[in-house]
Amino acid sequence: GRTVALVVAAGSGTRAGGDVPKQYVPIAGRPMLAHALAALEHPAIDAVHVVIAPGQEAQFAGISDIVPILGGDTRQQSVRNGLEHLAAESGIDRIFIHDAARPFLPPVVIDRLLAALESADGAVPVLPVVDTLANGGDALGDVADRSALVRVQTPQAFRFDAILAAHRAWDGAANATDDAQIARAAGIRVALVEGDAMLDKLTYAQDFARAEERLGARLV
Ligand code: C5P
Repeated sequence: GRTVALVVAAGSGTRAGGDVPKQYVPIAGRPMLAHALAALEHPAIDAVHVVIAPGQEAQFAGISDIVPILGGDTRQQSVRNGLEHLAAESGIDRIFIHDAARPFLPPVVIDRLLAALESADGAVPVLPVVDTLANGGDALGDVADRSALVRVQTPQAFRFDAILAAHRAWDGAANATDDAQIARAAGIRVALVEGDAMLDKLTYAQDFARAEERLGARLV
């Protein structure tokens, strides 16, 4: 069967500053989304698909020849649109679902996820929590036991039929921030593999500045 990647880039977030949607903010001269697409060029991935926001077709056409799928109001809806589009194709065995907001994907993470999919229907990259986690509010609230917690990144890898069925079964009113929780709710066992700090999500202007520095350091 084939292995495909689905990049979700239909967010309207402009927390990175300016009025350029986050996925088109340049890092070292290239839009973040272009970096994310390039990082998915891997010998085990047969095709890369992308979900973009309606109205951003021209911006997207400037960075890729891929025929885009249109997204929805939430990340979860954008992924669903992508999955339903791909369901019309036959022969897709595995899918990597990835955030455009995590543009630096070390190939070794793809290798780890593929290995984990040999014995599970889902797999996600995770990192330990290094900060104290607590309830906020007016003053410090209860502190969570961080040793029991992980930070969950993307790409998230699944057997295609399993994640499609899980999305179809999910209660649309409940907003999921990733696909692993939708998989888990459907009874799919999601394996954990080691993630990478390079995969941390870029949200604020300072994240972009730091990414640019890191990228520069890696290239020289
Ligand atoms: O906003 P956040 O950083 O959580 O978004 C994660 C990813 O989901 C981003 O790559 C964003 O473009 C995508 N997204 C989407 N459709 C939405 C909202 C977010 O494809 N409606």
